[in-house]
Amino acid sequence: MIYLDNAATSFPKPEPVYQALDRFARSHLANPGRSGHRMATEAERTLDQARHTLNRFFNGEAPERWVFTLNGTDALNIAMKGAINPGDHVITSDLEHNSISRPLVAMELGGMISLTRLASHDGYLDPDELRAALSPKTRLVALTHAANVLGTVQPIEAIAPIVREAGALLLVDAAQSAGVVPIDLRATPIDLLAFPGHKALYGPTGTGALYVGPRADLRVWREGGTGGDSKHPVQPEELPYRLEGGTPNVLGVAGLAEGVRWVADRGPEANRAHEVGLLQKVIDWVEGNGDGWRVAGRWDPATHVGALSLIPPDPEAFPSQDLAMALDSSHGIAVRAGLHCAPYIHQALGTFPDGTLRLSPGPFNSAEEIETLLRALTEMTAGVL
Ligand SMILES: Cc1ncc(COP(=O)(O)O)c(C=O)c1O
Repeated sequence: MIYLDNAATSFPKPEPVYQALDRFARSHLANPGRSGHRMATEAERTLDQARHTLNRFFNGEAPERWVFTLNGTDALNIAMKGAINPGDHVITSDLEHNSISRPLVAMELGGMISLTRLASHDGYLDPDELRAALSPKTRLVALTHAANVLGTVQPIEAIAPIVREAGALLLVDAAQSAGVVPIDLRATPIDLLAFPGHKALYGPTGTGALYVGPRADLRVWREGGTGGDSKHPVQPEELPYRLEGGTPNVLGVAGLAEGVRWVADRGPEANRAHEVGLLQKVIDWVEGNGDGWRVAGRWDPATHVGALSLIPPDPEAFPSQDLAMALDSSHGIAVRAGLHCAPYIHQALGTFPDGTLRLSPGPFNSAEEIETLLRALTEMTAGVL
């Protein structure tokens, strides 16, 4: 299988991640913090170390500000539902994944908030348009860092100070950027950073994290056991326990921490450069002899992650879903077609409801694999489905 669906979840994981999962599962898989015995203490230590690892990697304020979550969606829901109050104004964009759009639209339809959705231009948001949309009632600005359909990286360093100056909170969805685009939480005023652990940080599925900055005071999300402090009648005030009721996925976190260390050793830019280099071959093919294929959004290798959406030459004759199925069944190539859980950007692109064919290589893909893909696409548009 040629796996080009790393924007959905990364595969394969780096070898040290598999080894860490195996090692931890066999020797330390006790309930962290729940009992005083050595295995439980070791499991708790694994969680603590992972918070330190994340804090160092993203230059956060303190390890306890990192809350482990089930996935990216969980982290975003904890952030949005914990921060927003009735009557607030919230700003988002047409690039967002449903894990931001659906909770916000539900709040808007329920009469709880007013919502502004910024339009992107060729895949990029304009900081001046954001500035104009802010009002004294704006409580939260919730934006993706790298768009999952287009792969375009947003100017978050320009956006963050504008939001801070207006007194609102900034929530950044780093699902497609964490691990490939450097993020420095002390240099860039981001209040809440949410991401899954299972994409470019190479943890297993079932992992994610939310960074809660000092200005964000979130409501309790899920109440329950936290190991220590059992006498307390309600959820403890302190982070991370305030937002982490229940037995955590400590096995997944052990794998995630190893993935973050692997990325930190190579440097995020090395993985991004490799993936963008592979996508450049696709761009060259589209521009050279692409047979009517089009690229969605503006291609700028300096501000792109390893995800790219292609619009087939004749979407009625070649719906992206059919192409993806044929790539899988006839060529052993895994890509993702359709709307990619991001309907608003497809409406803006005019690719709704059929969607696009998204290619997302990872650090283990080769140039030969991309050539195989391009040969397959060429054959298909020549009518050989
Ligand atoms: C931009 C973006 N945000 C959020 C998510 C949700 O992450 P998860 O599937 O881990 O909940 C994804 C997943 O594809 C994504 O691409």
